[in-house]
Formats: sequence, C-alpha cells, structure tokens
Amino acid sequence: MITVIGSANMDVIAQADKFPLQGETVRGKDFQTAPGGKGANQAVACAKLGQNVQLIGTTGMDSFGEMIKANLRRQRVDISNMTQTEGPSGVAVILLTEGDNRIISIPGANHALTPERIGELKSVIGASQLVMMQLELPIDTVWAVLKLCEELEVPVMMDPAPSSSFQLEYMPYVRYLTPNETECAELFGTSIEETVTNYPNQLLVTLGKDGVCYHDGEQIIYVPGVPAEVVDTTGAGDTFNGALASRLVQGSTLQSAVQFANVAASLSIGKFGAQGGMPIEQEVVKRVGKLAN
Ligand code: RIB
Repeated sequence: MITVIGSANMDVIAQADKFPLQGETVRGKDFQTAPGGKGANQAVACAKLGQNVQLIGTTGMDSFGEMIKANLRRQRVDISNMTQTEGPSGVAVILLTEGDNRIISIPGANHALTPERIGELKSVIGASQLVMMQLELPIDTVWAVLKLCEELEVPVMMDPAPSSSFQLEYMPYVRYLTPNETECAELFGTSIEETVTNYPNQLLVTLGKDGVCYHDGEQIIYVPGVPAEVVDTTGAGDTFNGALASRLVQGSTLQSAVQFANVAASLSIGKFGAQGGMPIEQEVVKRVGKLAN
C-alpha cells in the first residue's frame, strides 16, 4: 500500500487569455471548481494507476470538505484515516491561461494535521511500502512524518512544493526528492547537473516538456520529454509523482519508472483540472508502446 500524507483542496479556477498585471483587471473566459491539493492529486494518480492507496489529511467542516471526500471515495482512495476539523477546507485559487498557471494555495484545514495525529497512525504508516509527501502541511508535521518513517524504515518520496517550506535537513530522511527545475534552483542554488550529481538516485528534477534529469550513480541520465497537447498543466507534477511511486512499489527500475511517469504526466496535461487528465494504467502502457515504435 502507498500512503500519501498531504493536502486536499478545492481548486477554484479562473480562465483568461492572459494573466492580469499588477493592479490590472482582465476579462475572464470561464470559472470552475475542481478537486485538487497536491496530496489528494497524488493519491488519485496512484489510484487511477491501480494502486492500493490511502490519504492521510484533513478537510474542513464545509461543503468543499464533503465534495473533496466524495471525490476521493469515487476515485477509490482510502480515506478512513482522514479527519475533519472546524473551519474551511484548503482552497487553491488558480489563474489559468493557455499552457500556464499561477496558484495561490490557502491551507485551511490542511494545517490542522498535527504531529500527534501522525503518531496515532504509526501502525498504518508502518504497513506502507512507500510514503508520499508534499509541503502543504505544517513543518512540525513534515518532521514528524520523516522521523517516524526513518524509525519504521518506510521510504519517503517528497515533492518539495511549495518550496518555501523545504529544509535541506530533510535530505537524509528522503529516499526520492522530485523538484521541478525552478524549485531545484531555489532549493540548492547550483546547476541541475551539479545538484543531481550530489544526490545520485535520490534527486529527480522534472523539466516540463524537456523530461527528467537524475544521476544514476555513474552518469547523468536525461529521460526525454513526451510531446503532448497542452490544455492544463495543473497537477502534471502530481501525476508524475503518483506514477513514479506506482511503478517503484511494483519493483520497476528507477529508469523505467521515470519513463512511465513522464508519459503519465504528458497525458495528464491534455485535459482540464489537476485530476481531470490523470491516466489509467492501460492508457500509459499504450502510449509507451507507441513511443517505442
Ligand atoms: O499541484 C497542483 C495543486 O497545487 C493544485 O491542485 C492546487 O490545489 C495546489 O495545491
């Protein structure tokens, strides 16, 4: 089983032809709400790829919380260890223009997930093949998860987003770190090549349409990107993480897991919403097959 410990949001999405400049008002084209949150997105990505996955997190006592949970149930994510807290659920305000987005994430109930709650879930976390985390949680809770996973010898895959909550001290506790190019530069301050060389088989840098870069212990590996039609890139990183985890727990090599995850992420951006384009296993396998021919 994969355990995702992270955020569950309602995304409120405004589409326009261009982003407003400071102080400017632009006319929008559409407005929608859709389930999101990096934790929920990664859990749904795993579930769609056939994995047994649970999400540990918190929703608020509002209608968004009910909608978030109903969606997770529908997607076959185990939410039996999620809790509810007073106040609003997490919300992300997303501005979407063609091929690009800007996100403000308001934690709400996500910040009610405490280190004490993580301690209470020791046995379910200990039964996991892999724990996936992002950084839309309080820092104390992130540390509680890292320390517990170290004690229980459960590997952790961390998506260091939002990067402002990352600490270099996490690295010895993390089996895989998956920043994008911008986050990698912010977190480490060195070139991508130098950074991946310093963290072989641990640091996987996603480069958008240019693929993924990591060091396999002998050399730098570039896994090329996959050409794709872009409708909405929101959640592409979450799909990548979910697909990578799904393959790794099935015993794939890192290289083949990265190739699979790259294809899954490229398929996810062809539809609207963070979770809307997440592929099922057969879709990824079919696309991998086409690329090989
Ligand atoms: O990674 C995309 C997600 O980031 C969105 O769904 C939004 O909720 C923010 O958390």
